[in-house]
Amino acid sequence: MTTVLKLGGSVITEKDRPETLDGETLAALAAAVAAADVDDLVIVHGGGSFGHHHAAEHGVSTTEGIHDVRGVMDVHGAMTTLNRFVLSRLHAEDVPAVPVHPFSTAKRDADGELTLMTEQVATMVDEGFVPVLHGDGVVHAGEGVTVLSGDELVTELATALDADRVGLCSTVPGVLDDDDAVIPHIDDFDAVADVLGVSDATDVTGGMAAKVRELLALGSPAYVFGPEAVAGFLAGDDVGTRIG
Ligand code: IPE
Repeated sequence: MTTVLKLGGSVITEKDRPETLDGETLAALAAAVAAADVDDLVIVHGGGSFGHHHAAEHGVSTTEGIHDVRGVMDVHGAMTTLNRFVLSRLHAEDVPAVPVHPFSTAKRDADGELTLMTEQVATMVDEGFVPVLHGDGVVHAGEGVTVLSGDELVTELATALDADRVGLCSTVPGVLDDDDAVIPHIDDFDAVADVLGVSDATDVTGGMAAKVRELLALGSPAYVFGPEAVAGFLAGDDVGTRIG
């Protein structure tokens, strides 16, 4: 049984201060991962105040690329720094975490199609390791380097590894409705599109709406939940919002 868990960038970093870790939350998450001791686990983390800050400074996004190597290294360098922090907190809890840097293992075609070396990740899992991937820069045909989000890695990995459970640990306790109450279950995008602030269901530009739509397309159930629910998610409980 394979589980893919994303730790949102704004959960593990201080969002408003460039390159600042939320060490306390990260340590608690690492302890929860260690205590759950799930068999086949892949972790992905986002960028938070490490990735987004540099990406904005250099004008690089998921669609707008750059060729300036300093910009590329600023984004990639900040993300590998954050990845080292995440690994060291996991190692402190004896989780056999190993790094996978998507910049070196992925590419995008001119039409935006992503190719990721998922067989390498699967072999790491088979050998008892916990691969830890992260949002990163990715070489993109015709664009130079664009941003690859952790969310996109999650859907790519979940499909390629035939994941049984997918979890997105976010700063909110789930997908929220108009009254900020957690929506327990979403199985139809159109039914929640209004609540998610999407007027045209075919034009999803980002945020929670894009997450929900991508997660609905997966073959496995996905959960969106807050940091306090990680242990429950890893234990197999229904936590936060179940999507699909
Ligand atoms: C962002 O990854 C990666 C970079 C900006 C390089 P994500 O988009 O997955 O990060 P969070 O979780 O939203 O912070």
